Amino acid sequence: MADAAWWQRGVIYQIYPRSFMDSDGDGVGDLPGILARLDHLTWLGVDAIWLSPVYPSPMADSGYDVADYRDIDPLFGTLDDLDRLVAAAHDRGLRVLLDWVPNHTSDQHPWFRASRASRDDPKRDWYIWRDPRPGGGPPSNWLDYAGESAWRWDGRTGQYYYRVFLDAQPDLNWRNPEVQAAMFDTLRFWLRRGVDGFRIDVLSLLVEDDRLRDNPPNPDYRPGEDWPFMRELSVWNVDRPETRELAGRMREVVDEFGDDRVLLAELVLPLEQTVAYYGADGRGIQVPFNFELLTAAWEARGIAGYIGRYLAALPAGGWPNWVLGNHDTPRVASRVGPAQARVAAMLLLTLPGTPILYQGDELGLGDVAIPPEQAVDPIARLIPGRGRDPERTPIPWDGGPGAGFTGGRPWLPVGDANRRRHVAAQRDDPGSMLTLHRRLLRLRRGTPALVTGGYAPIGSDGDLLAYLRTAPGGDRCMVALNLGPRPARLALPGPEATGRVALSTHPDRDGAAVASPLELRGDEGVVVSLG
Ligand code: GLC
Ligand code: MG
Repeated sequence: MADAAWWQRGVIYQIYPRSFMDSDGDGVGDLPGILARLDHLTWLGVDAIWLSPVYPSPMADSGYDVADYRDIDPLFGTLDDLDRLVAAAHDRGLRVLLDWVPNHTSDQHPWFRASRASRDDPKRDWYIWRDPRPGGGPPSNWLDYAGESAWRWDGRTGQYYYRVFLDAQPDLNWRNPEVQAAMFDTLRFWLRRGVDGFRIDVLSLLVEDDRLRDNPPNPDYRPGEDWPFMRELSVWNVDRPETRELAGRMREVVDEFGDDRVLLAELVLPLEQTVAYYGADGRGIQVPFNFELLTAAWEARGIAGYIGRYLAALPAGGWPNWVLGNHDTPRVASRVGPAQARVAAMLLLTLPGTPILYQGDELGLGDVAIPPEQAVDPIARLIPGRGRDPERTPIPWDGGPGAGFTGGRPWLPVGDANRRRHVAAQRDDPGSMLTLHRRLLRLRRGTPALVTGGYAPIGSDGDLLAYLRTAPGGDRCMVALNLGPRPARLALPGPEATGRVALSTHPDRDGAAVASPLELRGDEGVVVSLG
């Protein structure tokens, strides 16, 4: 794997621009803010940044409702700011990925305004308009994410339009070749500006059945626990064969710009369907997100089993990836607790494949409780308890009044506990979460076994999760993670049965020689160089 691509070796850092760094005091993060903090990211040791959407948007869904795919919202800056950010990132060896939202536009996009204006408008067929079913009612039983009909009646022209998220996010009609061409051109627009690739939003929802066949009920639906739309098996409106084919066409577009641009994609699908998006002969999406760790029970046997199933399910040449946090999911530190969040970081950064790190997880930020009257995320109103504001709060940079994030009033509260976890306090603290991340990233970079090496599980009992990573040249390290609070022990492999602690979640034993059996304290994870 000496010729592994940058995105195979590297670690991708997700920036949620609203909350990263505010440069102009309006309380919302922006592009010049990101630029001002690039040196922090190179100090930390990540390889690429992916920016959640920064396009012009009415912000009904915080920018995932795009009104123009070829510009920057004034809230975040200008096209010049984006160009400056890309250039400055490239100067530092950092790649830049943008979010691309092809499934739906904003209802304020000129395309939809035209489409909605009359049945004869040339843009009418750019969206999915249908008559009621014979006898009345929505054209199919498909559900939106809140569990209501995904069809919205539009009285002006007397038809339904299809949308899965908000009314303000109508689905594009990807069967229309004009839509395909126009959207592919938006990719080229940014690729020409030097962007290194894209994260594709909800790719699995792109195309729907043209006969609008009804979905069957889901016999395993758990009300209250599952998302409301899971009442149905979304067989006719999700992961259609046409979507897989279009994923290959998207790849062809980025490949027009050389072989080091990359596509990441959000696919909320079972494992077997997710890995289909690698495409025949790897001609599809290079990084179809692996979301298992976002929701997996924090339990050694279950996670070890999943790692094995996932790696076995990859097609030949398919490169693995791991996501531990994002802007749609409660914070990992809140899900597993602060002690296990350190172990989780070691897991994310030592598994085979590309890690995707969500901003703030490297600080150990927790969810911030947002009172209902301060909620910004529309989901907080539509599905109580599912709001995503708690994991989207601003990054605390220092102990100042605006937490070093803003000179004004932050758009969401920083949160008292997170305020104390600020970057300035953690930077020089050898025991901090930030230092652990920086050391893990540095260790990874200098250890071929961890970047491109093979993976072999080590069978173990109880709360231990352990595996070997072996470099092509034979250098080996063992990763042993104690997912529980009680001490545990594990035999070191190999005839020598000795090693050296390259890194521990508990920094007091870094560099120490160890012999078999390896003793782990509760909540401790170690990387041991063997032999
Ligand atoms: C994706 C985004 C999420 C957004 C949705 C609709 O799931 O990650 O934030 O609300 O798509 O675009
Ligand atoms: Mg769609």
